[in-house]
Amino acid sequence: MRKILVIGIGAGNPDYLTVQAIAALNKADVFFIPDKGEEKAALRQLRTDILERFVEAQDYRTVVLKTPKRAEAGTDYRGAVDDWHAKLAEAYRHLFETELGEGECGALLVWGDPSLYDSTLRIIERIIATGFSLDYEVIPGITSVQALAARHRIALNRIGEPVLITTGRKLESEPAEDAVVMLDGEQAFSRVVGEYEIFWGAYLGTPEEILVAGRLDEVSGEIERLRREAREQKGWIMDTYLLRKLETGKE
Ligand SMILES: C[S@@+](CC[C@H](N)C(=O)[O-])C[C@H]1O[C@@H](n2cnc3c(N)ncnc32)[C@H](O)[C@@H]1O
Repeated sequence: MRKILVIGIGAGNPDYLTVQAIAALNKADVFFIPDKGEEKAALRQLRTDILERFVEAQDYRTVVLKTPKRAEAGTDYRGAVDDWHAKLAEAYRHLFETELGEGECGALLVWGDPSLYDSTLRIIERIIATGFSLDYEVIPGITSVQALAARHRIALNRIGEPVLITTGRKLESEPAEDAVVMLDGEQAFSRVVGEYEIFWGAYLGTPEEILVAGRLDEVSGEIERLRREAREQKGWIMDTYLLRKLETGKE
């Protein structure tokens, strides 16, 4: 049976790779590398660097998957994502069929960890649901959330309290007391009311990493400026932040 290793590669720094991930890299015959266009060329390069650095026998094959573009979501976000996943599943199934021999092992290198805002596992389940015979295994990686906490030297939760992980699109103007925000294309923190602290990180784990922490009302202007400048310079931005409600008397 064909097998796919879904390997979390950490969110930005090749040193985030676990020993288990390195062992998995060395088992794979074929690496399937998604190509998401020019703006993400730097991310593609990190995957290539990881293979060159950690795979001992350099006789593996790489196959590039040109990822289909996602249609504008409009009002039907879930519908647009579902259509996109269907196209991706079809494209991957075709590649697994044609590029991976029976009994061979392929690998997908997933940014951060596959369990967090990543569709790889859903796509594999879709392929299997079509009747395609495929085994797969998941190797966890360091998420951008863990990288953020480590770089700011903070615990995500307060003692005995929950933490919400959400997206910029879903961030409320009065968020949970402790909320981690990802996939924020629109500076959702700027519409937050109330007294919050923010721990913000962009390009975490990379040489271009930027960190800012402070009271939201005092640093949000600076974050907006840094985001704008970085985006103009690089053409894209990847940032994550923790919002923490300021409350006296709570730890
Ligand atoms: C599609 S999600 C992938 C998350 C990934 N699976 C993980 O485990 O972190 C992409 C979002 O993750 C966050 N992200 C990923 N890598 C990051 C990094 N190096 N620095 C800051 N944020 C990052 C950003 O919020 C970005 O919009």
